[in-house]
Amino acid sequence: MSRIAYVNGRYVPHRDGYVHIEDRGYQFADGCYEVVAISGDTFVDAGLHLKRLRRSLDALKIAFPMTDAALTVVMRELARRNMIREGFVYLQITRGVAPRDFAFPAKVKPSLVMTARTKTLIDPRLLSDGIKVITIPDIRWGRPDIKSVALLPNALGKEQAKQAGAVEAWQFDRDGNVTEGTSSNAWIVTKACEVVTRKANTDILNGVTRLGLLHVIAEAGLRFVERPFSVAEAKSAPEALQTSSTNFVLSVVRIDDTPIGDGKPGPVGQKLAKLYADYAASGAQDRT
Ligand code: PDD
Repeated sequence: MSRIAYVNGRYVPHRDGYVHIEDRGYQFADGCYEVVAISGDTFVDAGLHLKRLRRSLDALKIAFPMTDAALTVVMRELARRNMIREGFVYLQITRGVAPRDFAFPAKVKPSLVMTARTKTLIDPRLLSDGIKVITIPDIRWGRPDIKSVALLPNALGKEQAKQAGAVEAWQFDRDGNVTEGTSSNAWIVTKACEVVTRKANTDILNGVTRLGLLHVIAEAGLRFVERPFSVAEAKSAPEALQTSSTNFVLSVVRIDDTPIGDGKPGPVGQKLAKLYADYAASGAQDRT
């Protein structure tokens, strides 16, 4: 079966999915995106993704190209055409095509592209073994809360992690506090069994999985705190976790050269991974 993409109003074979060389996304990274997990018939927390997309577009002053309802129809149709049962849809909106000029063009139509891909969101090996992360300085711009396609620092960090045999790089700010992973949010579990993650202000992306997990934690009657934590605190925590739409909840068992806890996924992480997986599959997360 050949893959299908959606490009500016048309469903096209994936290999023919092109945008113009003067698209501002290509020249200025002038656009934003979302990655929405597909679990069976469910787009996991689609409402929260569309809300965040609107927020990113508003921050960049890019017009929303279609209603949420229309966007959802395209997402469903793309998942259907690509026969995705488990995976994700990627959607990207840029300011559009215009002669290269830094200031915004007067009249421009946003470009909207979508792709969909099959992917194992709950990887049994990653779940049972946990993952290794490295730590790197956060060198990104001042608004990582906007889900912008300007991801070069993130790509550099991920490559550095890969070279070090790790799955992710956790970034830290000037105070030595962890901001987030290059494509995930970072968490620790304290000795007092509190689940800790950084407050979502302009320093991090407010992950949709992060929000879903906070909901799951509250429902399960566990305690959580939104506060900064340092790399040193993370290394001495009994458990560490990360969340993202593409891997849900994973236990972090090594940070740089330091094993976390006994170097295996801990009980809180395993429980949360299971509870979140149930939540994602339930189709019950119609929260906006
Ligand atoms: N990235 N922080 C960053 C910098 C991210 O890029 C992501 C997700 C997250 C987690 O957000 P969410 O739970 O909404 O997926 C946090 C996606 C998966 C990506 O770029 O592929």
